[in-house]
Amino acid sequence: MTTTDLARDAARAGDATLVGVDRAALPGFIRRLDETALLAMAATLHGEGVFPGGVGRTTDQAADLLRVAVRHRWILHRWLAVLTAEGWLRHDAETGRHHLLRPATRADLEAATSALDAARTGLGYPAAMTRFFTATAAHLPQLLRDEVPLQALLFADEDLETAEAAYKDNLVNAYLNAVVAHLLRDAAGRPGRSGPLRVLELGAGVGGTTADVLPVLAGRPVRYRFTDVSRFFLDSARKRFACYDFCEYALFDINADVLDQGVAPGTQDVVLAANVAHNAVDVARLLAGLRELLAPGGTLLLVESCREHYQIATSMQFLMSARPGVPAAGSGDLRAGTGRIFLTRQQWLTQLTAAGLTPLLDLPEAGDPLAALGQHVFAAVR
Ligand SMILES: C[S@@+](CC[C@H](N)C(=O)[O-])C[C@H]1O[C@@H](n2cnc3c(N)ncnc32)[C@H](O)[C@@H]1O
Repeated sequence: MTTTDLARDAARAGDATLVGVDRAALPGFIRRLDETALLAMAATLHGEGVFPGGVGRTTDQAADLLRVAVRHRWILHRWLAVLTAEGWLRHDAETGRHHLLRPATRADLEAATSALDAARTGLGYPAAMTRFFTATAAHLPQLLRDEVPLQALLFADEDLETAEAAYKDNLVNAYLNAVVAHLLRDAAGRPGRSGPLRVLELGAGVGGTTADVLPVLAGRPVRYRFTDVSRFFLDSARKRFACYDFCEYALFDINADVLDQGVAPGTQDVVLAANVAHNAVDVARLLAGLRELLAPGGTLLLVESCREHYQIATSMQFLMSARPGVPAAGSGDLRAGTGRIFLTRQQWLTQLTAAGLTPLLDLPEAGDPLAALGQHVFAAVR
C-alpha cells in the first residue's frame, strides 16, 4: 500500500465517525466560540474597571488592579495579547500600555452564550459544554485571583458530565481515534513483520485513545506499553484494560531522558503520544529522543491541538499554571517566553522533520472544515 493510499484510508476511517454531522457548520461554530470567549475576557476586564474611558494600563498594572494570583499572571498576559491581536484592544508599543478596550457587558455575554448554546445542538456538543462555559465566565475574577479553583467548576456535578464534556470533544476525538486506530491496524497487519508489533504509548492517562486502539490490536501479535508520568493512571488502566494481556504498564516522563526509562533504542515500531507532546519543556529534544526509540521504519503518531481556542484561556489554562511544561523564556524550545502551549500544525511538521523524521500524513487536511477544530493526527516515519 502506498503512503497516499494509507492516508486516504485513514481519512475515510475518520470520516466514518462523522456521518450526520454538519461539517460545513464547524468553522462558524468555532469562530462563535472564540468570539464569546473574547467577550467574556472583555466583560470581565470592564466589570472590574480595568480600562475605564481612555485609560491605558500595562499588563502588570492590569494584573495588580485585578489582584491576579502570581501563578495565573501569564493567563492575563495571554488575554491581553489575544484581545489585541483580534482588534478588541489597542496596544501602545512605546508606553507598553493597553487601552481602548471594546465595550462588553455581562448582558452581551449572556446573549452570546445563549446563541452559542443554540449553535452547538446538531453538532454533537453536549449541553454540559455551554454550562461549563457559563460557569467559568461567571467566575473569571475569582479564578484569576485563585479564590476559586477551576476543578470546583469542572467537577461540580457528581456524574462528571461537565468534566467529560470539557476534556473530550466527542466529535473530533472519535475522528482522531479512528485515524490512529486505522494506522495501528495497518502497522500490525503489514506483511513480512517478524515478531510482535511493539507499541509505546506516552501520556496515556485516562486512556481516551488507548480504549479505541486496543480492541483493534486484540488477536494480533502485539506488545503494548501503556505509560504515563503519573502512577495513578497506570493503576486505573491496569484494571480497565485487564482483558488485553498484551499490555504492560510503566512510568515514563517525556521531560526526562527518554533513552533512560527502560525502553531500548531502536526497538519501537510505533510510538503514540495523544495530547501529551506539548507538555514537553523542549519539543525538539523530545522528538529527537523519540526518533532514537523507534526502529528503522517505525512510526511516531502524535495527536495534538494545533491552536489555542480562546475558550481555553478562560477555562482549562487555569489548570496549567503550575505545570513545569510551559517553556520559560531562554529555554531552547520554540515557544519559550511566548506563553503559548500548543504548536501550530506547521510548527509540528517542521519540528518532526528537524528531528530526522519524515512526515507521512497529517489529518484532517488543511482544507477540511474539521481543521477549524485545531486537532490533528501526525504520522512520521524514522
Ligand atoms: C490531556 S491528557 C491526555 C491523556 C490521553 N493521552 C488521552 O488523549 O486521552 C495528558 C496526559 O499527559 C500526561 N503527562 C503530563 N506530563 C507528562 C510528562 N512529562 N510525561 C508523560 N506524561 C505526561 C498526564 O498525566 C496526562 O495523563
